[in-house]
Amino acid sequence: MSAPMYSQYANEYAQAITNNVYNALLERPSMLAMLPELQGKSILDLGCGPGAYVEHFLSQGARVTASDVSPEMVQIVQKKFGDQVTAYVADLSHGLPDEQDSSYDLIVCPLTIHYIEDLSPLFNDARRVLNGGGSFFFSTHHPIVDFEVSPSGNYFSRELIIEEWDTIGHPVQVQFYRRSLTELFNAIANAGLYVAALSEGCPAEAMKDISPESYNHLLNNPNFLFVECKSFT
Ligand SMILES: C[S@@+](CC[C@H](N)C(=O)[O-])C[C@H]1O[C@@H](n2cnc3c(N)ncnc32)[C@H](O)[C@@H]1O
Repeated sequence: MSAPMYSQYANEYAQAITNNVYNALLERPSMLAMLPELQGKSILDLGCGPGAYVEHFLSQGARVTASDVSPEMVQIVQKKFGDQVTAYVADLSHGLPDEQDSSYDLIVCPLTIHYIEDLSPLFNDARRVLNGGGSFFFSTHHPIVDFEVSPSGNYFSRELIIEEWDTIGHPVQVQFYRRSLTELFNAIANAGLYVAALSEGCPAEAMKDISPESYNHLLNNPNFLFVECKSFT
């Protein structure tokens, strides 16, 4: 089932992340800086939300398939991009049963894996559907940040965190999983993947004028983790 932030408030969320600090000026520029040339590539966008990444991938001449657990998000993407994109509803906690082996050059999964308790089905299938030499990119909350709100105080235990976020201008409850770097990196290795690149993000210069306070904070404090995985075989 999809969370209210991404179902009931899908349109408000789409509007909010167009030019906000954390998505538009930190997460997306940091992720895009890691991606290779996209022209002619086949890309699977997982947890696509309202399609900010889909829009970029299409503008770069990529072929895009996108999925999200929220029917409202998939509808927004279908309405915006029509038959330029294949978009469907799917819960990533079950892996990628609708996808063929070795069918994508790139898989991109921004800010979604923390909504999934067991990463094995998704990571195993990411490896299965990647072309040889392809890459699986994801971003997620930095563990150091999520540990600040750990209910147990035990960094090594996986925990469901419940918070209220003001992303859309009023508080909405969100739930996500906090996990250690050890657990995350074990999930990558157990799927037969290895980490080819890692970033802790960098705020865009434009943030300096729009929100100097956030800019200075994010120059000194990590907020997200960006990982590129590749297959050993
Ligand atoms: C923070 S938003 C990110 C949207 C988009 N990737 C972006 O960066 O603009 C997280 C997205 O993950 C989706 N999501 C959450 N749990 C999911 C699941 N189990 N399977 C697929 N999508 C999921 C939500 O519906 C939401 O659209």
